[in-house]
Amino acid sequence: MSAPAHFEVSYAINPWMEPDRWRPDDATLRQQAHAGWDALRATYEGLGAVVETMPPAAGLPDMVFTANAAVVIDRQVLLARFRHPERQGEEAHGQALFAQLRARSLVDSVHALPEGVCFEGNGDAVVDNTRGICWMGYGPRSDLRARETLQAVARRPVLALALVDPRFYHLDTCLCLLTGGELLAVKRAFSPEGWAQLQAIAGPQLVEVPEEDALQLAANAVCIGRDLVMGYCSATMRQRLEERGYRARVVPLDAFRRAGGSARCLTLELGT
Ligand code: ARG
Repeated sequence: MSAPAHFEVSYAINPWMEPDRWRPDDATLRQQAHAGWDALRATYEGLGAVVETMPPAAGLPDMVFTANAAVVIDRQVLLARFRHPERQGEEAHGQALFAQLRARSLVDSVHALPEGVCFEGNGDAVVDNTRGICWMGYGPRSDLRARETLQAVARRPVLALALVDPRFYHLDTCLCLLTGGELLAVKRAFSPEGWAQLQAIAGPQLVEVPEEDALQLAANAVCIGRDLVMGYCSATMRQRLEERGYRARVVPLDAFRRAGGSARCLTLELGT
């Protein structure tokens, strides 16, 4: 995780970001961001997770969304290349972080993408250990061409899904894997072919996220054991989770939703 010391909405690279609506409430929203981030970290630690932090940097307000820095699969790291110039300054920080994690033996090897190929890390990758595959989202941010590199680093099949709704611009805004193998998914975010593929592979483990929750970025959640850490959960969603043996742990992350992110975006799972 990376603390929100410099977090704000000062540019717009997705439909959630409205700098003109952020600015008038800047001080309050910053406070909310700090409180939400602290609560998120405390929730993870309360569930037994160990949190590593990456120092924030001035001028990189979205660096708080560490999910985009890389994807880590079985201790192999593939570093991100960002689509938008506004976030490209984060790449050097991601490189430095993983060099350190490697020196500390928390990961084994660090890989880069070929020149000119964009891929936004865990934002567009859902590592599915239940099925021995990796789901990849492409279109708004990541290039389909990144699949080849991801597959080589992941050493498992990568199934690529086109993202068709600009509000669900990263795969982790519309697909969430639970520890038991269930996949929470926002139907409108996928092409008919993509949805059919999810249905074919997940079968009854595919759980549709209600519209109300989807529009609060509730699918951008992190599952630890039977707890699902998320920024929002309607009564309907809560029931769908409880029926399957999961508890919703709601953390107030609305300030981050204004940048198009929630719990999972704020977290890069290292898996070690
Ligand atoms: N404002 C950031 C962007 O548009 C939000 C990133 C959210 N991260 C995620 N993993 N979905 O890039």
